[in-house]
Amino acid sequence: MIYADITGWGRCLPPAVLTNADIETLMDTSNEWIVSRTGIQERRISHVTNAELARVASARALAAAGISAEQVDMIAFATSTPDECIPNTASMLQNALGASNAAAVDINAACTGFVYSFNMMSDMIRAGSIKTALVVGSERLSSLMNWSLRESAILFGDGAGAIVLQASDNEAGFVAGKLGCVPDTRELLAVPDFGLDAIAQFRPLDVSIVFSGQEIFKKAVKGMGDACEAVVAEAGLGLDDLDLIIPHQANARIVEAVVRRIGGDMDKVVLTLDKYANTSTSSIPIALIEALEQGRVKPGMNILFTAFGAGLTWGASLLKWGERVTPLGETDISLPPTDKTGLDLINAAIARRQAYEQTN
Ligand code: COA
Repeated sequence: MIYADITGWGRCLPPAVLTNADIETLMDTSNEWIVSRTGIQERRISHVTNAELARVASARALAAAGISAEQVDMIAFATSTPDECIPNTASMLQNALGASNAAAVDINAACTGFVYSFNMMSDMIRAGSIKTALVVGSERLSSLMNWSLRESAILFGDGAGAIVLQASDNEAGFVAGKLGCVPDTRELLAVPDFGLDAIAQFRPLDVSIVFSGQEIFKKAVKGMGDACEAVVAEAGLGLDDLDLIIPHQANARIVEAVVRRIGGDMDKVVLTLDKYANTSTSSIPIALIEALEQGRVKPGMNILFTAFGAGLTWGASLLKWGERVTPLGETDISLPPTDKTGLDLINAAIARRQAYEQTN
């Protein structure tokens, strides 16, 4: 039996912080509303491209696994905010890392992209098609924000997380997975005019996330709840056997509702959304690495991932952690510094948008 063990992990959080107090200067909202309705206190805003965030997180993951980029057979790059569509972002990352032997694919399942990629790459390793995969969730969602829409702009942040999966004889890694997509719900969460439809009509790129928060909330709780129950049952486990629950970090109230629905224990949940908000595909690896750094991950633990996102996609993964909870190595690769605050970066983006509107 071949297992797909997590042997390396790395994350990259851009340094510029945008607090709820900063957002109060941009729109009619309040720290009190945001914290009580979502649990979010601040988020990071990137001064570099999505691929650069991914490069740093990936270099750290490879160093933690103690392998070279040439050893990677496949890069799965989960993102909804690719720097370019063609060629894909995974090939940009392949070049930046020097992963010359790797196949490279972008996976777009919105915020469920990391769970989809983790399950798919684990299955490829377990089937013997590949030996080593780099699974990356990386987003620069701030570039899609419309800072006049208070229902969406408060929710998101930028960041990247990466793991290395390697074939192993030891019983560790992926145990069970369940993926899906709620039919007839595509309109609930979308970025209109962000594809060929807009280009075909020669419309200028003027994008915003639009969504129906309450409808998504309900479907997210059901989708994640059902997926969690399915993977726990498939693994022949009970809820008490779970040691850590690492959910997509969209909203603390959604997480609490999912955990209540499956009869889980909030003490076992890893929450990072207060600091980083919803970073879409990167929220699970970022939270996993936070748990590792805090010593919450122990050898042999049963860990549950679950996520939902536009589509509406949903999924869950159950894994058994292996023996090692510390990195084998480190790298000094990091982001270029910036002296800009999150608010500086957002105000500059708003000014660029206004200037564009005035001249077009
Ligand atoms: N600041 C202040 N008030 C706000 C606000 C903000 N940022 N955003 C919305 N409101 C107002 C609304 O206008 C509404 O006012 P009204 O009652 O006068 O009409 C009121 O707050 C309640 O809005 P509602 O949409 O019912 O709030 P909610 O409790 O459902 O929370 C979300 C809204 C978006 C936080 C929540 O529904 C959610 O997290 N949904 C899913 C998020 C999601 O899709 N994430 C991306 C996919 S991973």
